[in-house]
Amino acid sequence: MSSKKILITGGAGFIGSHVVRLFVKKYPDYTIFNLDKLTYAGNLMNLRDIENESNYRFIKADICDEEHIRALFQEHRFDGVVHLAAESHVDRSIADPSAFVRTNVMGTVNLLNAAREIWTDFNDKRFYHISTDEVYGSLGETGFFVEETPYDPRSPYSASKASSDHLVRAYFHTYKMPVVLSNCSNNYGSYQFPEKLIPLAINNIKHLRPVPVYGKGENIRDWLFVEDHARAIDLIFHQGVLGETYNIGGANEWKNIDLIHALCEIMDTQLNRAPGTSAGLISFVKDRAGHDMRYAIDFTKLNTALGWKPSLDFREGLQKTVVWYLENENWLNQVTSGDYTHYYEQQYVKR
Ligand code: NAD
Ligand code: DAU
Repeated sequence: MSSKKILITGGAGFIGSHVVRLFVKKYPDYTIFNLDKLTYAGNLMNLRDIENESNYRFIKADICDEEHIRALFQEHRFDGVVHLAAESHVDRSIADPSAFVRTNVMGTVNLLNAAREIWTDFNDKRFYHISTDEVYGSLGETGFFVEETPYDPRSPYSASKASSDHLVRAYFHTYKMPVVLSNCSNNYGSYQFPEKLIPLAINNIKHLRPVPVYGKGENIRDWLFVEDHARAIDLIFHQGVLGETYNIGGANEWKNIDLIHALCEIMDTQLNRAPGTSAGLISFVKDRAGHDMRYAIDFTKLNTALGWKPSLDFREGLQKTVVWYLENENWLNQVTSGDYTHYYEQQYVKR
């Protein structure tokens, strides 16, 4: 795909910014178009280090705006799409499901339609849809999600992502669109908006605010360093088999409460506070409605087919992540200065 025009949607968000950075640096022959609406979750500060690169362009656009999206595809004639733009936070989807249906379902259909219109032949074209392991539902104490696990989404967020996954596959079967998909577990690392568990906890501990743990903190997530996810996306975009889906995970299951305790120890050390100071902030709050118990990914297919595996030990990744947030106070202050604060603080009142 040399000299190609690649559209990355949601590139100003958490994972998207890491994907844009990787593609801009690794593929100087591509022109990388970052299309983003810049919602509360998207921020161009995430890309300051590469924004002046000659192969990078930013387009402010809403994937729900069908006419604008169609016009952009007509104008730029993108050769490939890496689609990450989405409403991504489960708690928000419980508060306002419609926004998730609009962006995650209709926005994806708008992109598929616009690509189908300009791609008169599908040679060397590719639409890559980034999705989540949450579409598979919730696991009990044993077992793993594999690519064949039946879909069983249980939150408005995961239902909207499942719907978009089905639509992407439907375009492959119906129109022979050259699509590829992946479903990934929980990401962590730099530039994650501090409403998600890890950056929220870091930010709250830093300010000696309560750290809200839903229910008893026994829910389990499989954590992956975001740069490892970006590496997997690069591999799948270039080498994944059309029509196929690849699971991506960290082989790294943690109960929320154990993770928070590990984070508290790192924070005490980093902030030169007495051992136990951060753990003293842990506050058990009302559980998330419909809270999925356990996610765990089997990524054998991706490992066997494309040789991918996670690179970073979790404690090392967590340490790196803490240091990044503490060193990037300006970023944290800026992204938490908007309207969203009202929503964010409401959630954490101890019930
Ligand atoms: P994020 O919320 O940090 O970023 C989403 C980005 O999409 C933001 O930049 C936002 O401005 C943009 N966006 C939202 N609505 C838009 C619209 N209507 N038009 C254009 N842009 C819009 O999300 P993230 O955590 O980086 O997740 C990115 C993708 O990866 C999502 O599709 C998500 O479902 C998927 N995913 C996330 C995780 C995770 O752990 N964060 C894991 C697996 C899959
Ligand atoms: O599994 C992939 C998914 O991971 C992605 O598709 C989503 O976009 C991403 O947001 C993430 O979803 P989760 O709901 O798992 O992530 P979150 O950080 O919101 O929560 C992680 C766990 O921590 C979950 O069990 C809920 C719990 N939690 C979360 C918050 C925000 C708390 O206990 N307290 C909190 O304040």
